Amino acid sequence: MAKMEVKTSLLDDMIGVGDMVLLEPLNEDSFINNLKKRFDHNEVYTYIGSVVISINPYRSLPIYTPEKVEEYRNRNFYELSPHIFALSDEAYRSLRDQDKDQCILITGESGAGKTEASKLVMSYVAAVCGKGAEVNQVKEQLLQSNPVLEAFGNAKTVRNDNSSRFGKYMDIEFDFKGDPLGGVISNYLLEKSRVVKQPRGERNFHIFYQILSGASEEFLCKLKLERDFSRYNYLGLDSARVNGVDDASNFRTVRNAMQIVGFMDHETQSVFEVVAAVLKLGNIEFKPESRANGLDESKIKDKNELKEICELTGIDQSVLERAFSFRTVEAKQEKVSTTLNVAQAYYARDALAKNLYSRLFSWLVTRINESIKAQTKVRKKVMGVLDIYGFEIFEDNSFEQFIINYCNEKLQQIFIELTLKEEQEEYIREGIEWTHIEYFNNAIICDLIENNQTGILAMLDEECLRPGTVTDETFLEKLNQVCATHQHFESRMSKCSRFLNDTSLPHSCFRIQHYAGKVMYQVEGFVDKNNDLLYRDLSQAMWKANHSLIKALFPEGNPAKINLKRPPTAGSQFKASVATLMKNLQTKNPNYIRCIKPNDKKAAHIFNEALVCHQIRYLGLLENVRVRRAGYAFRQPYEPCLERYKMLCKQTWPHWRGPARAGVEVLFNELGIPEEEFSFGRSKIFIRNPRTLFKLEDLRKQRLEDLATLIEKIYRGWKCRTRFLLMKKCQVVIASWYRRYSQQKKYQKIKSSAITVQSYIRGWKARKLLRELKHLKRCNEAATVIAAYWHGTQARRELRRLKDEARNKHAIAVIWAFWLGYKVRREYRKFFRANAGRKIYEFTLQRLMQKYFLEMKNKMPSLSPIDKNWPARPYLFLDSTHKELKRIFHLWRCKKYRDQFTDQQKLIYEEKLEASELFKDKKALYPASVGQPFQGAYLEISENPKYKKLKDAVDEKIIIAEVVNKINRANGKAASRIFLLTKNNVLLADQKSGTIKSEVPLGDVTKVSMSSQNDGFFAVHLKEGSEAASKGDFLLSSDHLIEMATKLYRTTLSQTKQKLNIEISDEFLVQFKQDKVCVKFIQGSQKNGNIPTCKRKNNRLLEVAVP
Ligand SMILES: Nc1ncnc2c1ncn2[C@@H]1O[C@H](COP(=O)(O)OP(=O)(O)O)[C@@H](O)[C@H]1O
Ligand SMILES: [Mg+2]
Repeated sequence: MAKMEVKTSLLDDMIGVGDMVLLEPLNEDSFINNLKKRFDHNEVYTYIGSVVISINPYRSLPIYTPEKVEEYRNRNFYELSPHIFALSDEAYRSLRDQDKDQCILITGESGAGKTEASKLVMSYVAAVCGKGAEVNQVKEQLLQSNPVLEAFGNAKTVRNDNSSRFGKYMDIEFDFKGDPLGGVISNYLLEKSRVVKQPRGERNFHIFYQILSGASEEFLCKLKLERDFSRYNYLGLDSARVNGVDDASNFRTVRNAMQIVGFMDHETQSVFEVVAAVLKLGNIEFKPESRANGLDESKIKDKNELKEICELTGIDQSVLERAFSFRTVEAKQEKVSTTLNVAQAYYARDALAKNLYSRLFSWLVTRINESIKAQTKVRKKVMGVLDIYGFEIFEDNSFEQFIINYCNEKLQQIFIELTLKEEQEEYIREGIEWTHIEYFNNAIICDLIENNQTGILAMLDEECLRPGTVTDETFLEKLNQVCATHQHFESRMSKCSRFLNDTSLPHSCFRIQHYAGKVMYQVEGFVDKNNDLLYRDLSQAMWKANHSLIKALFPEGNPAKINLKRPPTAGSQFKASVATLMKNLQTKNPNYIRCIKPNDKKAAHIFNEALVCHQIRYLGLLENVRVRRAGYAFRQPYEPCLERYKMLCKQTWPHWRGPARAGVEVLFNELGIPEEEFSFGRSKIFIRNPRTLFKLEDLRKQRLEDLATLIEKIYRGWKCRTRFLLMKKCQVVIASWYRRYSQQKKYQKIKSSAITVQSYIRGWKARKLLRELKHLKRCNEAATVIAAYWHGTQARRELRRLKDEARNKHAIAVIWAFWLGYKVRREYRKFFRANAGRKIYEFTLQRLMQKYFLEMKNKMPSLSPIDKNWPARPYLFLDSTHKELKRIFHLWRCKKYRDQFTDQQKLIYEEKLEASELFKDKKALYPASVGQPFQGAYLEISENPKYKKLKDAVDEKIIIAEVVNKINRANGKAASRIFLLTKNNVLLADQKSGTIKSEVPLGDVTKVSMSSQNDGFFAVHLKEGSEAASKGDFLLSSDHLIEMATKLYRTTLSQTKQKLNIEISDEFLVQFKQDKVCVKFIQGSQKNGNIPTCKRKNNRLLEVAVP
């Protein structure tokens, strides 16, 4: 997942100022205060532009974790707070992305943190560069070379518990992708004097202590060593143990590292044998032995140690023993052998030890280089890391310090050249307006030391090579002669009167005013150290050793390769290697880490302002800031600048045809960068502020992303288009196939339709033909028929003609008769007009009437009064006659019909007629009653003896005697009663006994109610207030309701001359004593057969269910 980019700047949460360029006001005090403030807040790094100032914290800070590495990875230099990782990242990225070889120059005093810084740079680069098994192995080997070299080349000094006693420059090589391929290490001047003697409070090289503490007993035994440090003269005893350093575990680390770097077991073994031999050499002691010639000869005190050394290294003991006692000098093809006195023997011993050790160290470096060198021949990019011993001022400064300080002078020189001088010169060269900044150029000091004719090193070489007695004093004298006038050289004997009074300067010393301060050098030992002499006998003895490593370390001991020319002196060797180094550095892009030591006590949290101030001064940091401030932070030739940023502006992208400078001008104008932010030099663009550069970088990054998007877009477009075209092609093919198919189908359909249409047309045509043929045939037939008709017509016409002829003949006869008649009538007209017309008319009428009646007689209808038939009238003029005749006939036959009835029958028909008027179409029961003759007395009261009493009680004529049901109001149940109607009364009597229950005069009956349905229920309502009404109305039911109601009506009418009210309704009220009860008729179910049932619903409702 892409890491979210958070735009930050070193300005965020800044303590003091992160970049000294931003310091206001700028002076020494504010500079130191700013450093102190930051140091107190654990900010040990501060920038001067792109230079990193690092103050040794003397304690581990949590700012080198893998998370921090990730934080600084691929971020702009000024984006985060100052850090050595930022510089490393910048260097690595410019190496990888801009193909510029880099060098990282780490300078500072001993103990200021250079070695640590170099390790941090390497570990950062290792962490961010490529990954993979092979790459990891290379990285591991590069990193593991450090512990090996540190064990052999570092020692505890008063300033630093892990002080590098050699200069180291390491080229790390990368391929074009930025993956490490390998490396080359160069070492400079190991401080070998330390092997035999260490200043007070210091130690020998770590490896001696590590072997003795860390090796197993067995291994020690093999090396013929004892664990006790005090057994060895070469090991300074006063600080054999260092606080916080575990020699034993470091020994394991070193062996492990040697294995990783690629040392074979036998190589490691040999290396430790040499180390052991060196250690044991120190234990060889000499004693004087008087010789015959009166001179002292040195003899080895205790040969045991010598024996062991020889066993260890495979050297012939006698050879070595002799080499410690004699010295062979070859001159003019003659060998002269002189004895060595004790002092010379000790000198020889120490020289051997120093040489053994320093050559072993160089061999180690070569061996490591063999392992880590890049395996491929491809072009490499190089990042050089220079960790060289810092400027040193001790109490006693000797040749080594002189050399070391010379080296630092050179480094300062290159710093000045690359930053201060180069910067100013560049402005002038480029024609940029510029105010000159004064700074101290130490070239003059370099010249004092390295000048080929008058330089101190040249003087020393001259002395060393000069025949005759040469001592350090003669050397000093020489210096006094040659350099006395030099501003930076001081000595007691100097002719320059300035120093004559300077008693602080002893006679055997000279003082050089280095850029970093005055250093007084003891001249003692300069000549010897420069000569670096090892007696030939010793080197030959070593060469003869039966030990491949030792043999290889002393190639000059091979007698076959005897070289009389003196080997180059240490000073000139060093000068040469420093010159090479400087040349090498000048081809690379420098990155500076300037280490500052905050105190002399190796203690955390202490910031010694005076000490720091001194370092700031001699490092020229203030000038550095001034130059930076006055100038431009960044410059670049026009071509690469345009190349890098051309995509930011339309005119320059993708190609700019004109000169690069014009392109850059256009570009910057287009981007709207303020004019004061940049200047145009002759060949370079100068950007004043780093932020402007970062802005450009950001824009570029953004733009590159856009361009990538564009490319992607075009590619996608192309891909889609290709796909689309393919799809289109496919679609066309499919469509053509489909169209073919559909057209085929359509064609087949049309074809079959055409066949159908064709067949219809053919059929139609055939039928037409047939029709025509038929027509023709019919025409023929018709012609025949017509012909026949024609013939017929002809014949009939002939017949008619003949008939007409005959009729005409007859007509003529008639007309003739009429004519005769007319003639007769004209003759008899007067008689005819008076009688004949009338008579004819009457006669005709009579004749017609006669005929009419005769015909009617035969067509008479039946005598039934209901027969509607009547013959049609024959003549219109008889219309009224005919109707009259019909009426008369009907009346007549009705009379005839009536004449047959008796009086009894007439009465019965009258009653039936009355019933019809009352109930027809009103009551459903009526039609059923039409066919039943009204009998009136159904009960034979007079005949039946049972009713004798009843008969006696009623003396009037009984019109109706019948059994009815009286409905009981309480439960709707019926009770049988005899219903009697006489001329004046209605009577109800018990059916069994015949006793009269009620008697109502007809005048008291007001109304009879009944339903419209097919039931026999009826109520007889009585006049209110009458005597009979006290018991209430009667609710009765009878099978002869129609007859009883009709008779009651007729009898009432004839007796009271009033029409009895007969109410036909499905719901009526009946008065029972006090209450009125509603009788309701409903359409009931047939479950009780055809008998209507009466039920009491409640006090006031009786319900009659009629089926
Ligand atoms: N960045 C650092 N963080 C913690 N301790 C440091 C750091 N740099 C230096 N030191 C301490 O200072 C000591 C001296 O540093 P070193 O790099 O050996 O000095 P130089 O190489 O300049 O003589 C180291 O052993 C270590 O204890
Ligand atoms: Mg160091």
